[in-house]
Amino acid sequence: MKYNITVIPGDGIGPEVIEQAKKALRAVGDTYNHTFLFKEAMMGACAIDKTGNPLPDETITLCQQADAILFGAIGDPKYDNNPDAKIRPEQGLLKLRSTLGLFCNIRPVKAYDKLLKNSPLKREIIAGTDISIFRELTGGIYFGEKKISKDGKSAFDGCVYSVEEIERIAHLAFKQAQSRRKKVTLIDKANVLETSRLWRKTVTELAKKYPDVTLEYLFVDNAAMQMILNPKQFDVILTENLFGDIISDEASVIGGSIGLLASASVGKKSALFEPIHGSYPQAKGKNIANPLASILSVAMLLEHLGLHEEAESIERAVEKSLELGITTQDINAKKPFSTEKVGDFIADYIGNQEDSNLNFMNIHLGQSTII
Ligand code: IPM
Ligand code: MN
Repeated sequence: MKYNITVIPGDGIGPEVIEQAKKALRAVGDTYNHTFLFKEAMMGACAIDKTGNPLPDETITLCQQADAILFGAIGDPKYDNNPDAKIRPEQGLLKLRSTLGLFCNIRPVKAYDKLLKNSPLKREIIAGTDISIFRELTGGIYFGEKKISKDGKSAFDGCVYSVEEIERIAHLAFKQAQSRRKKVTLIDKANVLETSRLWRKTVTELAKKYPDVTLEYLFVDNAAMQMILNPKQFDVILTENLFGDIISDEASVIGGSIGLLASASVGKKSALFEPIHGSYPQAKGKNIANPLASILSVAMLLEHLGLHEEAESIERAVEKSLELGITTQDINAKKPFSTEKVGDFIADYIGNQEDSNLNFMNIHLGQSTII
């Protein structure tokens, strides 16, 4: 099959890690006889520098034409420290999410056995954790009315949710729970916020359609605590935009590195896949950034296209790289491999999933002459 993939490398380490993700996708193409046609598009600080616009119209068109979108990272420190900046890179991503209607953001969080020691949390607390976070992505306080008073001494961000917005993501979360451990935890702040009370009411009603799934509720402050006290209690988490942003960064600590967390943002017609880490400007161009989150995002992309076996081949390659320690410095401080080398290993492993050879690791790294 032929697939059109629009690739948005973005800012900071985005281009480096996305290059490795493309390598993995090409390897899948070669191995399983698919053609992935890449078209590159601009978004973020790099797009502002070139065009003055963080999301050029051409990027939107290319995304609308694609079977899937692969995205790297966004952001530049020159904007972070300037609250007066009128144009910001992040506006590009937010506009893309809303224009393409990418309302459902899925962020899987898994504790890999090999990385338990990398987390600052205790092994016995995190071992076995497997969570799927469903974060609403096109509503709430991110997209509500924003105001600043004339004298600049007060500001306002509105948070709005409709029943329809809540229901469409809740259905997806419950369906996923049915194929997992059959539990949904709704995270909200229903003791304080009107929008949260609407979430609770709507989700409670909708849950009746999924009698095999248990629904639990947690206030977000308690959920933040539970996430590090007992993360194994979670299966599918369902939550609104801002809470999901915060909880998912917190949950990334369980995996041992934020450099491992992939995500999918899906709408009715489009789907975008991206690592959840940011643009990590300090590492830009140094060939040290962890490409695994981008590569795992490719696995989610393949899953979305219905290519299950192909997606699994990527997951297996990532697990193998963790097992052998062919990883970047964030998880392998003693003997780190470069971004590119990790990408080479993954691509090669996808094509040659045979690991009986003793010299296996060197062969996959292209360092051996012995076969
Ligand atoms: C994320 C990011 C974005 C968000 C930023 C870059 C706008 O933090 O995808 O989690 O807040 O949604
Ligand atoms: Mn975030």
